Amino acid sequence: MDSRIRFLMCAPDHYDVDYVINPWMEGNIHKSSRDRAVEQWEQLHHILKEHAIVDLVSPHKGVPDMVFTANAGLLLGKTVVLSRFLHKERQAEEPYFKQWFEENGYTVHELPKDLPFEGAGDALLDREGRWLWAGYGFRTELDSHPYLAKWLDIEVLSLRLIDERFYHLDTCFCPLKDGYLLYYPPAFDSYSNRVIEMRVPAHKRIAISEPDAVNFACNAVNVDHIVVMNKASEELKARLADAGFRVLETPLTEFLKAGGAAKCLTLRVTEPVREELHANVSVESRVLRIQGHLLDSGLINRALDLITDNGGSFQVLDFQLGEQRQSTSQADVKVSAPSHEVMESIISHLIDLGAVDLPQDERDVKLEPVIQPGVAPDDFYVSTIYPTEIRINGKWLKVQNQRMDGAIAITQTPTGVVARCKILRDLEVGESVVVDVQGIRTIRKTESREQRNSQEFSFMSAGVSSERRVELVVEQVAWELRKIRDAGGKVAVTAGPVVIHTGGGEHLAQLIREGYVQALLGGNAIAVHDIEQAMMGTSLGVDMKRGVAVRGGHRHHLKVINTMRRYGSIAKAVEAGIIKSGVMYECVSNGVPFCLAGSIRDDGPLPDTEMDLIKAQTEYARLLKGADMILMLSSMLHSIGVGNMTPAGVKMVCVDINPAVVTKLSDRGSIESVGVVTDVGLFLSLLMQQLQKLTSPYIGKVV
Ligand code: ARG
Repeated sequence: MDSRIRFLMCAPDHYDVDYVINPWMEGNIHKSSRDRAVEQWEQLHHILKEHAIVDLVSPHKGVPDMVFTANAGLLLGKTVVLSRFLHKERQAEEPYFKQWFEENGYTVHELPKDLPFEGAGDALLDREGRWLWAGYGFRTELDSHPYLAKWLDIEVLSLRLIDERFYHLDTCFCPLKDGYLLYYPPAFDSYSNRVIEMRVPAHKRIAISEPDAVNFACNAVNVDHIVVMNKASEELKARLADAGFRVLETPLTEFLKAGGAAKCLTLRVTEPVREELHANVSVESRVLRIQGHLLDSGLINRALDLITDNGGSFQVLDFQLGEQRQSTSQADVKVSAPSHEVMESIISHLIDLGAVDLPQDERDVKLEPVIQPGVAPDDFYVSTIYPTEIRINGKWLKVQNQRMDGAIAITQTPTGVVARCKILRDLEVGESVVVDVQGIRTIRKTESREQRNSQEFSFMSAGVSSERRVELVVEQVAWELRKIRDAGGKVAVTAGPVVIHTGGGEHLAQLIREGYVQALLGGNAIAVHDIEQAMMGTSLGVDMKRGVAVRGGHRHHLKVINTMRRYGSIAKAVEAGIIKSGVMYECVSNGVPFCLAGSIRDDGPLPDTEMDLIKAQTEYARLLKGADMILMLSSMLHSIGVGNMTPAGVKMVCVDINPAVVTKLSDRGSIESVGVVTDVGLFLSLLMQQLQKLTSPYIGKVV
């Protein structure tokens, strides 16, 4: 027994569940028995006195949770960081604990106002004293961690709690002697779990099950090889025994009703200082500015959610509210993250939302050279669909060839520095690549309430039934197609063979014939089935007029491929009068360029199908350049490929019977993409009808 170990406890004279500040307290107001609580507390007190010295702080009326002395503060040696409770219900405890610490010779540090920190409930020393584990996410603010490091001169490892049942670190995490750790991994986010796994070797980690976790098995007091807790399963006891620990169970059910157990009811006041160790904290902070219709468009909510969802924390330092409907707002937000790695991921998301450094904090981008062709430096910045600028030598430079999932490559040209998005395989030695997330900004259009609601592509909003929605989309797409054609713009179509199977071929052919399509992208199949239909009236052997299988029809598509191979290309077959109608026929006759990208399942392939996928991707990108709108018709593969190459600002309409495909493609976080879950043949037929309605009254052209 180590007689120097001391604990601080507070008798439950005034203990009760008087309010609800954690999920355990819900439904338990005034449901605990004072007598039983006293009995359980005394039992715990008795056990601890056998293994350590227990000091007492006087209980006070009106602060029922004062029994949970773990939340008084965090001590190391003779220094204490006093708690700053998040909830006002517990703030009244602060002066009582402060007084006790002062009377007992501790140096008390107090955190700035509005920076919550809940003491040893949220900060646990490694039992060997090597570092401090500090929780955040519910009660304690991440920004308090650097203060702990500074005042206690110790390394702080920040862990984010994500399950509200385990709102304090000590409810799901208990460092034990000899470097063991008792904990409940699902209570932490994945980054925190990695931090834990990096510090505690696998054979020292004792991960507990949910039933043990909800019995507060982690809320244990460890003295040497004894672990005192409310309750443990036989399995857990056996595992602890294997690690050399003996479990002492003592029921604390009355305190569970308030969300606490053994560890919460105690504060270890003798935590020895290890002189050779010093402060170290990986928490980083950065101040960013966000401008726009922050409230109207929900941008500020999105930004703040994104920070916390990604494991960071924020403080809004300044908010200038645009008072008129048209005026924009501006917020300066301090972002904190537990490490540089997490900071990078948060900032890269915020950059996508248009956040920038404050003018006085602007710094140049960080660059690293390409040293192996086709390979970026680690930590390269991954480009997005949004127009991007980077800061070089104090000046903002626009990035060309904007696309997602690329790297930003910098080249010196005789006329100056050029920055371009490049896919990894195209990176060349001699170029530099933007790394980290500094000196990068994206230019986002500010959408006001009006713009969002009056935009032609605005029917994403809920409350539209799916049939009416299809009609609305069709009306608006038709309108757009007309505008683009009349303005000499560019529409690209990606299409899968389903277009032909569902009878949409003739409508797509008509769209092409009437000049609404400037490029067609697809695979081998759309062309084969289209030509099969043109030459034989079937699609994969099914008669398209009667809807029945034609005898021997399953060989039709191979015959078609064979014929095309004989002629050498689709264009030559058209020229020879072999193909007289259909989508491919119209492309060839109207000089609309197309690219067919091959795949492993292709029969043939057609002579036109590009089986070198790198070449096919390059050709797709070339055909997409300058597109105003892309119609994606039932082809998941080609549509996703196209989506990845396309910068923001290009309208995308994705039609597929499979909602998953539509969601994937239309969810680009911009009003420019829209998805329709419907039969593509039906969609195309409605679209043609609508276009004719638009055309006939004005031009008198009836097709
Ligand atoms: N009702 C108290 C609260 O919600 C319980 C505190 C438990 N203490 C602890 N260290 N986990 O604050």
